[in-house]
Amino acid sequence: MKVLVLGGAGYIGSHVVKAMLGAGHSVTVFDNLSSGQLGNLFPGADFIAGDIRHSSDVEAAFARGFDGCVHLAAYKAVGESMAQPEKYSVNNITGTLNMLNAAGTHGCKNVVFSSSAAVFGSPQYVPIDEKHPTNPESYYGFTKLEIERFLAWYDQIKGIKYAALRYFNAAGYSVDGSITGLERNPQNLLPIVMEVASGWRKELQIFGRDYNTRDGTCVRDYVHVSDLAEAHVNALEYIASRGESLTVNLGSETGVTVTEMVEAARRITGKDIPAAYVGRRSGDASALFATSELARKTIRWNPKHSDVDTLIASTWAVYQKYSAPGVKK
Ligand code: UFG
Repeated sequence: MKVLVLGGAGYIGSHVVKAMLGAGHSVTVFDNLSSGQLGNLFPGADFIAGDIRHSSDVEAAFARGFDGCVHLAAYKAVGESMAQPEKYSVNNITGTLNMLNAAGTHGCKNVVFSSSAAVFGSPQYVPIDEKHPTNPESYYGFTKLEIERFLAWYDQIKGIKYAALRYFNAAGYSVDGSITGLERNPQNLLPIVMEVASGWRKELQIFGRDYNTRDGTCVRDYVHVSDLAEAHVNALEYIASRGESLTVNLGSETGVTVTEMVEAARRITGKDIPAAYVGRRSGDASALFATSELARKTIRWNPKHSDVDTLIASTWAVYQKYSAPGVKK
């Protein structure tokens, strides 16, 4: 298929492009490089510098004619979305509407959308399945849920089929070392742990040790980005061949605590990784993990790299290529 990957120069996007090329699809990346990086582009993919906020950029891209697109061009920092909702409204919501309108105009009938477990809010039960009520607790999560609703309407009215993929905690790097771009100013646990291990930060702050979990720290479901990428390929092929839309959770189904993650990182990196327990971070749920049974059944998803050791070792391998953030050795 001819596939347009919006946000294909980013952390998850670059892994998706690699997987799409590997599956024999022809890929064009659309990215404004605000967080994506030229170094993440693959020689086998075309590149369009464009911004989803500008409908003319999006129109021009879709006019090239695509069978499907993968939409990952979004802001994703939960805390920032509560401080600057405007940014999330314009980029995540308006940008997606630009994408959907252009897809409709130019006959692109299949959309894979990067959604999030943030659509659920605090869980009423775990593991979280697709029937779990949605109740986002951040503006970021709200934008993801709202876009899922737009997708359902565009399916009904315009016949655009979609796969909404609700990622749990994306982590890790391609195990073959082919993707080495570090996220700028990372906000998530594993990159922060890696920055401490690399000596770029003095210590890790662990947010809360009084949760009702086995060691008092929060439980999350970390899923390897290459496993996520494979799900995009399978989902695109599924919706295109069946003419059927789909909403699935993508998690490893294994809950790992923050302390377990840090201890594994100490073992794998051989570094001390100083850590201090501090108060809870507002908005953190105590335990979040998925059941991905539906993804296994429908899109034949079979995560292979989402064990803690592979997540950490593949990330550490990339950090070791740098002497400072953004500076390669
Ligand atoms: N944590 C720390 N210290 C840090 C950073 C994180 O203790 O410096 C803890 C958090 O409190 C949390 C866990 O590590 O318990 C994971 O935190 P992240 O910020 O890495 O991830 P979140 O679970 O908060 O959110 C992530 C994505 C969201 C997505 C969500 C879905 O960032 O976009 O997973 O589960 F919506």
